Order: sequence, then structure tokens, then C-alpha cells
Amino acid sequence: MSENSDENRYQDFYGREFLVTPDVLVPRPETEQLIDAVLNLVGKPYLPGVRAALPVLPREITILDMGTGSGCIAVTLKMEIPEAKVIATDVSEKALKVAQKNAEMHGAPISFIISHLLEKVNFTPDVIVANLPYVDAEWDWVDKEALSHEPDLALYADDHGLRLIKELIDVASSLYLILEADPCQHQEITEYASSKYGLVETRGFILVFKSLVL
Ligand SMILES: C[S@@+](CC[C@H](N)C(=O)[O-])C[C@H]1O[C@@H](n2cnc3c(N)ncnc32)[C@H](O)[C@@H]1O
Repeated sequence: MSENSDENRYQDFYGREFLVTPDVLVPRPETEQLIDAVLNLVGKPYLPGVRAALPVLPREITILDMGTGSGCIAVTLKMEIPEAKVIATDVSEKALKVAQKNAEMHGAPISFIISHLLEKVNFTPDVIVANLPYVDAEWDWVDKEALSHEPDLALYADDHGLRLIKELIDVASSLYLILEADPCQHQEITEYASSKYGLVETRGFILVFKSLVL
């Protein structure tokens, strides 16, 4: 579809506007807490006096945003932590094109990789952030009609919504792994990850894990 289509619009995320087309998820407010979690890791407190009791990472970290969609997470992190190297991946070529446009619009130098999870990623990032699809098609509290304007690829996953998140945990190797999932899934995810990653904190929909092996 063309960039000028009526279906395209702009959505605010963390105080910046992002182009959103039918090929990408509309950025959600709950995902903004993922940004706060990363800022916390580099000692850039988002609220005065609020900081997790964690060793502060240097700002020159490498951050991989998996399933970047509109690029809202990757672009925001690059704008908030300019010293960081930010790489954005998605399995959808159409989504990556939208993310690239948003990166250009904000002047955020980001690298893009088309990849299923980490398949085409040949380096070890310090931090992986991932808002992968986690909606279970069986959840009866979800308004399917409201979601019908966004790609199924961005929303739904098998295994009660956890297939891709579990697959990522299986293959991930990073100091920190920061995931978004519905709070009702947090316990199962934490247990699944427990041989590789320890839970540092949860905030809203966000889980922050630290590697137990690196
Ligand atoms: C929930 S959306 C998140 C989009 C954006 N990061 C955000 O927070 O608004 C999930 C994204 O994951 C991508 N995705 C789905 N399956 C994937 C896979 N196997 N590997 C990588 N990305 C995938 C989708 O194309 C979609 O852009």
C-alpha cells in the first residue's frame, strides 16, 4: 500500500510520533515501560529517585530490538541512548520498511536485519528487547474486532501465546533479556527461563531478566 493511504496514521510513543501502517502493530502505552526498563539499566532514571538496585551498564551497549514492527522501541532507545548501538529485526519485510521510515524520520541511525528470531543475527547483544506476538487466539477477553486492523503476525502465537517467546528464550544469549507479555503469562515465562535467566523485575507487562550464565 502507498505511504499516503488513508489507512496510514501517526501514533505517539514515548513522546514521539511514529508512522503506523496496516503492516505493523500500533504502539501501545504498556510497551513504554520497556523503554523505562532499558534506561534504568544504563543509569538514566526515568523518574527522579527511582532506580533498580542493579549495576549500571555503560551507555555504549549493543541493544537488539526483536520484532521491531513500526520501530518504535528501537528508534526511541537510539534517541534516548545515542551512545548505544541499536539493531532492529523483524521477520516481516513490510514491517521493516515502516521501521526504516520511522528511523529516517527521527534521524536515528539503526541497523536492520530481516530474520526469524535470532536466525540471521551473528553477534551477541548486551540486551535483547522483544515485544513478540503473545496473544492467545483463545482468550475470550480480547476484542478480536478491535485487533482485526493489525497483522495477525504481530499479535498471535501458538502454545497459549508463548511459542515465540519460549523459542527466543531457547536460543537467546545476552546479558539482559527484556520481554513484554500479558501479566497472566509472566509466571510461566519466568519458570521457562529459569535455567538461563533470573528475573530481575517486572513492571506492568514487562519482564526484565539477567543471564545466569554470562
Ligand atoms: C507485538 S508486535 C511488536 C511491534 C513493536 N515492537 C511494538 O512494540 O510496537 C510483534 C512483531 O514481531 C514480529 N514477528 C512475528 N514473528 C516473528 C519472528 N518469528 N521473528 C521475528 N519477528 C517476528 C511481527 O512481524 C511484529 O512486527
